[in-house]
Amino acid sequence: MILVIGGAGYIGSHLVKELVKTNEVVVLDNLSTGHRWAIDERATFVEGNLGNETDLDHIFSTYDIQAVMHFAANSLVGESVVDPLKYYENNVSATLTLLKTMVKHHVKKFIFSSTAATYGIPTVDIITEDTATHPINPYGRSKLMIEQILADFAHAYELEYVILRYFNAAGAYETAEIGERHDPETHLIPIILQHLLGEREHISVFGSDYDTEDGTCIRDYIHVTDLAHAHLLALQVLLDGKKKTATYNLGNGLGYSVKEVIKTCERVTGKKANVIMANRRAGDPARLVASSDKIYQELGWKAQFSLEQIIQSAWKWHQNSVKVTK
Ligand code: UFG
Repeated sequence: MILVIGGAGYIGSHLVKELVKTNEVVVLDNLSTGHRWAIDERATFVEGNLGNETDLDHIFSTYDIQAVMHFAANSLVGESVVDPLKYYENNVSATLTLLKTMVKHHVKKFIFSSTAATYGIPTVDIITEDTATHPINPYGRSKLMIEQILADFAHAYELEYVILRYFNAAGAYETAEIGERHDPETHLIPIILQHLLGEREHISVFGSDYDTEDGTCIRDYIHVTDLAHAHLLALQVLLDGKKKTATYNLGNGLGYSVKEVIKTCERVTGKKANVIMANRRAGDPARLVASSDKIYQELGWKAQFSLEQIIQSAWKWHQNSVKVTK
């Protein structure tokens, strides 16, 4: 049995859809940002908190858990700057309770969702796992703190783990049964598509004076199903005992500017966007692009979906989501 914490959230729910095909799965989620409708019905659902030792004791004593996959975190850079306590409580303190309870119940295999935000403002164009980590906001720091705790737990308690540092997750499940749904929405692709569906008046581009070719920020967009497949491979190497600890970037290796993303959304949907140039958003590095060579070399994982395909799947989801979420 695999325990997926945060399996009702955007990335967690896509992983669960793949994982249930070959594994028994229990999902723990407090539904604070996740959705009941997003949890695959083949998984067992427990509503509860990862920071609650009683909830965790119950799960670890009821089910034979072989590994834990942890997606349950707050993940908005801007929010973390104004409310760091929330980030240190949910992302660090609650995760520490989880790790403590895992050690107590002798559950030793762990997959951790980390982020490109651990790198801060990189001094290189393509970020490898060896690029220095200097996070510039509480969100990135909260994730890096757990990465460091994991290394100590591996040394002291023989915890085995894979850390996956996601770049910009986007897109939706191929059938459009599930997809990205945040409230409020802050991410670029869903905001553009909501606008093109008539749900927003315009799109604001946050900064057009960055040191990039067209002046807007460059990001590495990765399909959520590609992320899910990387998790399955990471789980397998841990279960097979082929790796004790590892850290991998998960990206496409290609950077797209905000303007390029808007253009691609226009092309995919056949609609024209109303775009407004706005001020920079605090905490945005100009460019974040990953090298994912390490996970390709070691586990054979490579992103399969292009930006165009990411947006096509997201567009299908946005058109379908009214039915799914009502
Ligand atoms: N952007 C706009 N207008 C908008 C929304 C976003 O111009 O209305 C810009 C942002 O300024 C940024 C880019 O689009 O330059 C992408 O922004 P997102 O909010 O979609 O994503 P972020 O890059 O800020 O953040 C994502 C995850 C974080 C993670 C980070 C790491 O949400 O959890 O990627 O790269 F830390």
